[in-house]
Amino acid sequence: MMRLTADDRKWLSDAAGGSVCYGEPMARHTSFRVGGPAEALVTPATISDLSLLISGLKDRKLPYRILGGGTNLIVRDSGIPGVVIRLQQCCRGITVESSNNAQTALTAMSGENLQKLCVFAMRRGFQGLNFALGIPGTVGGAIRMNAGTALGWMSDVLESLIVLDPSGRMKTIPKADLRVAYRSMVFPDTCNAPENVIISGRFVLKSGDVGAIKSEARKILQQRRRRQPTILPSAGCIFKNPSTGKTAGELIDLAGLKGYKVGGAEISLKHANFIVNTGKATASDILTIMAQMRRIVYEKFQISLEPEVIIEGE
Ligand code: EPU
Repeated sequence: MMRLTADDRKWLSDAAGGSVCYGEPMARHTSFRVGGPAEALVTPATISDLSLLISGLKDRKLPYRILGGGTNLIVRDSGIPGVVIRLQQCCRGITVESSNNAQTALTAMSGENLQKLCVFAMRRGFQGLNFALGIPGTVGGAIRMNAGTALGWMSDVLESLIVLDPSGRMKTIPKADLRVAYRSMVFPDTCNAPENVIISGRFVLKSGDVGAIKSEARKILQQRRRRQPTILPSAGCIFKNPSTGKTAGELIDLAGLKGYKVGGAEISLKHANFIVNTGKATASDILTIMAQMRRIVYEKFQISLEPEVIIEGE
């Protein structure tokens, strides 16, 4: 396990100034409200601070991870060694780039809230992002995970994205160069994916009628509230849907697991593919329930559920 040395910490404190917190509990930064400390959590103020930070980390061979909204993430109770970087300060803003009667191109910075982007588009009559209503998290996280619902995915509206690499270069990647799939968006090999940071996405949306977009939005949000738990902390759907046949939620439901509890974690009574934190759950409670869900679904249906959530930490 990689740990920061005293010298690394001195460098980091100089480089990152007041924007670094050591031993910051990740429970404060994840929608599940669980997770041990990040060894260092850095929130750069500007893109040039971010650029200096990641090039310095690369030079020192220190691992870093980008945190989006923490909404599809389980951080283990032992926490995350190394450096975690938040983009909510340095990558902000939504800009209309060009617009005509038929369509609008806009750029959203990766640290923006995805819901803010949906509302920005809706108010101006730009159509195509309603599918994302109610999906928590940041624009960058939603791009990286190719977030979506039955109504659409990020890759449907994304035209290109800009990434920053550790040598300080910004690169535009057109959608055609990305391998997009269900809940995944993979960069081309030449972009050295894990070290790159998504800075922004450019989206193309069709012109529509504000009233019609708003009334569709109301229906989508109502349906989400009816079908999914929205009050208790969770990370959304836990497992991916198998490529054919019954959904993960149906399989877990048919296995009779709704309401099953381990410690403070519970399989939602509303939607079986959600685990909710009833108040005092630990990451270990959640991971234990997940293992049992997989085991029981496999025993009953011979189907292996694959996690949708990202699991971080050691
Ligand atoms: N179902 C059950 N029992 C349950 C839950 C669902 O029988 O406990 C049945 C429903 O009755 C329905 C079917 O399963 O016939 C599908 O359910 P739902 O419409 O709720 O969709 P889903 O496939 O479970 C997917 C995404 C959600 C997204 C919804 C809405 C995945 C893993 N999940 O859920 O995404 O919000 O569609 O489009 O692809 C997420 O990614 O975190 C997420 C929540």
